Parts: sequence; C-alpha cells; structure tokens
Amino acid sequence: MDIDTTRFCFGVLTMSDKGARGEREDTSGPFLQQLLTEQGYVSRAYAIIPDQVERIKEKLISWVDEEKIDLILTTGGTGVAPTDVTPEAMLEVIEKEIPGMADAMRAASLRKTPNAVLSRGMAGIRGTSLIINLPGSKKAARENIEVLLPALAHALDKIQGGTSDCGS
Ligand code: MTE
Repeated sequence: MDIDTTRFCFGVLTMSDKGARGEREDTSGPFLQQLLTEQGYVSRAYAIIPDQVERIKEKLISWVDEEKIDLILTTGGTGVAPTDVTPEAMLEVIEKEIPGMADAMRAASLRKTPNAVLSRGMAGIRGTSLIINLPGSKKAARENIEVLLPALAHALDKIQGGTSDCGS
C-alpha cells in the first residue's frame, strides 16, 4: 500500500555564500520545494545560509530538534572547493548514516556527468528526521533527488518506526 506523503513535512536548506549575501538567486531551493510539494509533502521551512559548518549545524539541529521537521533537503556545499563544508556539518549532526542513498545518487549521476564523483553529499538520520545532501545546481539537485523519490516515503515511515511491510 502507498504511504501517504502528506503525513510528512519538509524543509529546504540552501548553502551558498553568494546567495546568502543576496548576490545570487537561489533556483535549486525553490525548485526542490515545488517538486516535493507536488509529491504531497508539506513545505515547512526554507533558508539560505553561508557555507559555514557552525551555521549549517545550528540550522539542521534546530529544524530537527525544535521544529520537528521530518525531512530536510540541503543543496550546495557538497563538493571539493575550500568553502564546501556541508558533509563536515553533517558528520556532527547525524546519528546514523544511510550510505545507500548517497551511493545511489552518485551512481546514477555518473551516467550524467563524470563530475558526479566530486559530490561528497551524505544522507543520514537525526532523531526521527531524515537529512539528505544534494549538490548545488538546480540540474544536479534534480538529477540526484529523482533517484531517491521512489523510496522517500517508505524511508520516512521506517525512520519514524512504521511497521509497514517492506515488500508492499
Ligand atoms: N550530479 C549530477 N547528477 N549532475 C551534475 O551536474 N554536478 C557535479 C556533482 N554532482 C552534478 C552532480 C559537480 S560539477 C560538483 S562540483 C559536485 O556535484 C558538487 O556540487 P556542489 O559543490 O554544488 O554541492
């Protein structure tokens, strides 16, 4: 049986130094909000912040522990530039990693671009929330999240202790 996606709220966190200074329009964040809303998930939060470990940690922890947001999609800061620190913040925030999600995104992305190997994005669980890192461009964010969409509701259900059969 299909899991009702309207049970789950989500937040989108864009990491961009230029975006946070108002020097670059964020196209990935609004795109992800629209895509998830179309799938039935309930939009609860959006923010754009600079690439700083402390700022990223603070926002993720507050959205999970205080706002109780079920699903957080981050976009940007997963690469290998000196400013890219999203995974470093994740390591301090998540309690369990879900390597299969990141592996699947990179494997699918490699069929689109050899640069897919440069994304260090992770997926993991804090409390009963799922946090997924996506690359920063709208194209890359779309190509990555599309890989996970079919498994997302089941993942959230399981993370929250759902007992639905994995085969159904
Ligand atoms: N994955 C897909 N599917 N499509 C892309 O265009 N771009 C890559 C990679 N993953 C890309 C992709 C590039 S060029 C980089 S540098 C890394 O994601 C990291 O991106 P980020 O630093 O914006 O997070």
